Amino acid sequence: MIATLDMAATPDFGTSRAPAATVVVIDVLRATSTIVTALDNGAAGVVPVREADEAIIVMRRLGRERSLLCGERESRLIAGFDLDNSPASYTRERVEGKTLVLTTTNGTRALVEAARGNALVYCAALLNRAAVVERLVHAEGYVRLLCAGSEGNLSFEDVLCAGAIVDALVRHDKHLAITDAARAAATVYAANAKKLTTAIASGTHARALVEKGFAADVNACAKIDVSRCVPLYADGVIGAV
Ligand code: MLT
Repeated sequence: MIATLDMAATPDFGTSRAPAATVVVIDVLRATSTIVTALDNGAAGVVPVREADEAIIVMRRLGRERSLLCGERESRLIAGFDLDNSPASYTRERVEGKTLVLTTTNGTRALVEAARGNALVYCAALLNRAAVVERLVHAEGYVRLLCAGSEGNLSFEDVLCAGAIVDALVRHDKHLAITDAARAAATVYAANAKKLTTAIASGTHARALVEKGFAADVNACAKIDVSRCVPLYADGVIGAV
């Protein structure tokens, strides 16, 4: 049973929060949406890393034929990499059977940070909200929804997604203990639940993605409850459970 459900609007690197038994990392635009899409399309696993150089080292260790170099800087393909961070790039043809070494500005950093403790670490996006909630119903202890944010700042779409998870968990157990932060996220979700695409498109990161030609990604990542994938990050690799 969940003891307390919390939400962190940013990863807050370097400072310590109360230890959580389960951490759910959220980066709707676009890292966790991309991870869900990649696993749905048959990727063998995703190895999140902080830096591009590190990704190249990991890829060499895994072997060029069985891995792909993936990620973005300033939302665009990194020179010499195979795939950018657009979910649309992660087709079955490209990713099936491959281990993806992924580095993104915020999402993979939040994942690496979350994995430093002893918590179970899941990835959530709007795409797999219901599937993650079904998993969390059986979680024990302190659960934190950790929003990746954007370079230390709150991202509206991440808080919205955290709120969608809180909303579903509270509907399941109306006595669930939630922190003020989790309650605030649920309030944001409730105010926008009927207009998710518009709400997400109004955020700073979404507008930046649209300017760079990724409007289709914003729409794709605003879809809710369309994937059954629950990505678990364990022993350095994210795989579907
Ligand atoms: C990130 O991890 O910072 C994002 O996924 C950036 C992006 O939109 O590509």
